Amino acid sequence: MKKATVRKPAAPKSPPRPTVAAEVPVVARLSPRVPPRQRAAIGGVVASPAQIRRRIHELGRQIQQDFGNREWVMVAVLSGSVLFVADLIREIEGPVKLDFVGVSSYGDGTQSGELVYTKELKLDVAGRDVLVVDDILDTGRTLSAVIGRMKALGARRVRSCVLLDKPSRRVVKQRVEYVGFRIPDWFVIGYGLDYAERYRNLPFIGVLRPEAVK
Ligand code: PRP
Repeated sequence: MKKATVRKPAAPKSPPRPTVAAEVPVVARLSPRVPPRQRAAIGGVVASPAQIRRRIHELGRQIQQDFGNREWVMVAVLSGSVLFVADLIREIEGPVKLDFVGVSSYGDGTQSGELVYTKELKLDVAGRDVLVVDDILDTGRTLSAVIGRMKALGARRVRSCVLLDKPSRRVVKQRVEYVGFRIPDWFVIGYGLDYAERYRNLPFIGVLRPEAVK
């Protein structure tokens, strides 16, 4: 007689393991291609283009695995994350959509005041898995607000990914599943990150010399 097959209920999917950031030593050597004016402002390299590429490849593999084949939405926070998200999304082979939000903090200029949306989401995230992507996690206010917003819009599950994490600066407790590099409290520029809107175009992440801060 044919035995009845008993199907085991599928094991609940475990939450993605946080990616432990690689600790990157500051290498005080710059590529000869960096123009002299920018060179004077840079104290060292936190992550070279090759290191960034390798780390993003690793993050992409893990994200791809965790998000699977159900259509999902990557939401990047303007403007600093633009270079990062452009490289990260190219590591994803599954059905992913891309959208952007713009967030600015209006306050007295020193303390983060109220966060105001300068660009709203275009896509509908209701019922979707969402990955919020930002270049840097500092106090945690921005990421926390954007994640809250995605949940309020009815996203099924919201996870987050940052290229850089400065844990020592945290004000708002914020869980982040995917981290590129964990760094001390350095003022970092390049690869999308700016100081007074400059340096976003550098292909590496560098530390700004204190003398360059006006
Ligand atoms: C930066 C960065 C994050 C945010 C992180 O954005 O891109 O979005 O600050 O800081 P927090 O954790 O303290 O909230 P910024 O407002 O400088 O705009 P930008 O991305 O256009 O440079």
